[in-house]
Amino acid sequence: MASRGKYSLPALYLYVACMLLLFSWKANSLSETEALLKWKESFENQSIFESWVIPAQSNSTTASPCQWRGISCNDAGTVTEINLSFTGLTGTLQNLDFSSFLNLLRLDLKTNKLSGSVPSNIGLLSKLQFLDLSTNDLNGTLPLSLANLTQVYELDISRNNIVGEIDARLFPDGTGQSRTGLIGLKNFLLQGNQLGGRIPEEIGNSKLLTLIALDGNFLTGPIPASLGNLSSLSILRAAVNQLTGQIPENIGTLNNLTDVRLFANKLTGLVPEELGNLSSLTVLHLAENNFSGHLPQEVCRGGKLVNFTANFNSFTGPVPVSLRDCQSLYRVRLEHNQLTGILDRDFGVYPNLTYMDLSYNKLQGELSPKWGECQKLTLLKIAVNSIDGRIPDEITSLSQLVELDLSSNQLSGEIPKQIGNLTRLSFLSLKDNNISGQILAGIGRLSDLESLDLSSNRLSGAIPHQIEDCNNLQNLNLSHNQLNGTIPFQIGNLVALQALDFSYNSLSGEIPSQFAKLKRSENLNLSHNYLTGTIPAALSNMVSLQSINLSHNSLEGPLPDGSVFSLHLIQMLLPTTKIYVVISED
Ligand SMILES: *[C@@H]1O[C@H](CO)[C@@H](O)[C@H](O)[C@H]1NC(C)=O
Ligand SMILES: *[C@@H]1O[C@H](CO)[C@@H](O)[C@H](O)[C@H]1NC(C)=O
Ligand SMILES: *[C@@H]1O[C@H](CO)[C@@H](O)[C@H](O)[C@H]1NC(C)=O
Ligand SMILES: *[C@@H]1O[C@H](CO)[C@@H](O)[C@H](O)[C@H]1NC(C)=O
Ligand SMILES: *[C@@H]1O[C@H](CO)[C@@H](O)[C@H](O)[C@H]1NC(C)=O
Ligand SMILES: *[C@@H]1O[C@H](CO)[C@@H](O)[C@H](O)[C@H]1NC(C)=O
Ligand SMILES: *[C@@H]1O[C@H](CO)[C@@H](O)[C@H](O)[C@H]1NC(C)=O
Ligand SMILES: *[C@@H]1O[C@H](CO)[C@@H](O)[C@H](O)[C@H]1NC(C)=O
Ligand SMILES: *[C@@H]1O[C@H](CO)[C@@H](O)[C@H](O)[C@H]1NC(C)=O
Ligand SMILES: *[C@@H]1O[C@H](CO)[C@@H](O)[C@H](O)[C@H]1NC(C)=O
Ligand SMILES: *[C@@H]1O[C@H](CO)[C@@H](O)[C@H](O)[C@H]1NC(C)=O
Ligand SMILES: *[C@@H]1O[C@H](CO)[C@@H](O)[C@H](O)[C@H]1NC(C)=O
Repeated sequence: MASRGKYSLPALYLYVACMLLLFSWKANSLSETEALLKWKESFENQSIFESWVIPAQSNSTTASPCQWRGISCNDAGTVTEINLSFTGLTGTLQNLDFSSFLNLLRLDLKTNKLSGSVPSNIGLLSKLQFLDLSTNDLNGTLPLSLANLTQVYELDISRNNIVGEIDARLFPDGTGQSRTGLIGLKNFLLQGNQLGGRIPEEIGNSKLLTLIALDGNFLTGPIPASLGNLSSLSILRAAVNQLTGQIPENIGTLNNLTDVRLFANKLTGLVPEELGNLSSLTVLHLAENNFSGHLPQEVCRGGKLVNFTANFNSFTGPVPVSLRDCQSLYRVRLEHNQLTGILDRDFGVYPNLTYMDLSYNKLQGELSPKWGECQKLTLLKIAVNSIDGRIPDEITSLSQLVELDLSSNQLSGEIPKQIGNLTRLSFLSLKDNNISGQILAGIGRLSDLESLDLSSNRLSGAIPHQIEDCNNLQNLNLSHNQLNGTIPFQIGNLVALQALDFSYNSLSGEIPSQFAKLKRSENLNLSHNYLTGTIPAALSNMVSLQSINLSHNSLEGPLPDGSVFSLHLIQMLLPTTKIYVVISED
């Protein structure tokens, strides 16, 4: 048994040698306290540093910084953490002498106003595990010395002004024997900078990566195939860059992927069908690229898909079959593609769905009454497709609905009688369909409505005067229908109106003088009706008018004085405005 408390001679020598080395090194480098004070001095008076002072009995060699704000130490009294996040710190990192903090584990300075560059001697913090400099004004390039931070698992320099490229040498070389490289990296975040160049293939050598967030830069080139080697990868964000090429097929083997955001790039080709094999997928954003071919049919196989966008691409073929029973859906945008599908067959009931835009596709079939069970819907747009049948009454039970756009389809039948139940509605467009019947008085219950477009249908009967209760209306378009009767004078109470179009109907009677109250109205079109009488003189009070079209009616008498009707004003508005005050064609 070796006796305790005694050292062998060689061990003692080694110990002494080590102490001497440490001492001589200490002598060359500032103490932690001195280094912190030196950094403090580089800032203009900032109250954050109030506690960073040396007590009367001590000096900068003997005083411990461990009680100072934002500083934490280990049991030996050595600084292990500097955390001044969210303190409004305004200055630079240039005077922070990293060589004094060789035991630092965590450096958290996020959300401040730090400027200047990330100093290259940051690589001296060789024990560092956590580095967060996000949301500052740091500029310059990423120092290559970051490759020294082999213990770092979190590296976040998002939302700064970092330029240059992501150096391939930041990552291990893949031989398994690298002494440098971000080998322990799990979370790698450089969002919202000005980085260019490619994402290096070598990123796949940081095998522990679970989160990569590079969105909002100017990155070019392809998504590296080596990402397929990152079996722990859970979140991949590279949206809003200039990435090209295809999504590497082997990404579909990464079973832990939950969140993939690639929107607003220049990606092309097919999206790997294997993306549908990802059983944990909750977010998939493919929008605003040049993808073609089919959407991954099994995209909701795991039953966890929450947010799914593929809008503004060239996807063809059917709507993913797995969407039908995908009850987890929250937000879906598939507009502006060439998707085919049968609306009432391919979509189901989604209790959590708030947003569904399927506009500008080639969908057919009818609107199923089941949409009425998607009780959380705030937006439903299926404009410019080929859907037919009637609008189911059930849709009027969507009490949260703010926007409903079913324009440019082949819908027929009548407007649901209880449309007035959609009291949150702010945007309603049913234009360009074959909808018939009357506009019912209940429309007046839509008091939040800002835009109502029922144009180009086969609506008949009178315009209900209750429309005056839609007192937030800015745009009212009932043109190209078969509406008859007189124009309700109460329309004049819609004082927020900016555009009013009743053209191409069978309206008769006189133009209500109450229109004079429409002081924000810029466009008024009553052409192609059977209006009679004189143009009310009061219309000259419509001070915002830029264009008025009264042509193709049976109006008579003099033009009102002033405003848009005065030759002087017409000259003033010309040539940027179109003024038609054509009273009669004969
Ligand atoms: C810093 O604070 C000291 C004392 O509080 C004051 O005398 C000095 O003017 C301040 N300097 C600046 C730049 O605000
Ligand atoms: C700090 O104080 C210690 C002991 O009180 C003393 O030995 C040392 O010289 C002082 N150092 C400085 C830089 O004043
Ligand atoms: C730094 O402090 C903030 C609170 O002030 C805390 O939320 C954050 O987790 C801390 N950072 C580290 C690395 O512990
Ligand atoms: C970086 O920021 C510092 C301090 O704001 C400024 O002086 C310097 O010119 C900037 N450098 C670049 C390359 O923008
Ligand atoms: C990397 O760390 C070692 C000590 O671990 C140090 O000697 C070297 O200077 C560091 N390199 C850089 C580039 O910071
Ligand atoms: C994935 O890792 C293996 C072994 O580590 C390596 O041989 C291969 O080149 C890597 N693949 C990619 C695409 O980087
Ligand atoms: C995948 O995620 C699960 C649960 O979060 C975790 O237990 C597992 O280790 C992960 N797999 C890999 C390869 O990282
Ligand atoms: C994906 O799932 C299909 C079955 O749906 C299977 O044939 C295929 O091998 C899977 N692909 C991968 C990469 O796991
Ligand atoms: C889905 O999108 C909404 C709205 O953009 C967002 O608030 C929510 O956090 C997203 N859900 C997930 C799981 O990312
Ligand atoms: C709907 O959302 C709630 C709250 O986010 C969640 O607990 C529930 O599981 C979701 N429903 C489905 C079917 O995913
Ligand atoms: C419309 O609202 C009325 C009461 O305000 C209610 O009786 C009726 O069931 C609602 N209609 C629908 C389709 O929800
Ligand atoms: C309006 O047209 C309907 C037929 O669509 C007709 O029954 C009604 O009498 C007309 N009303 C007026 C005022 O012309």
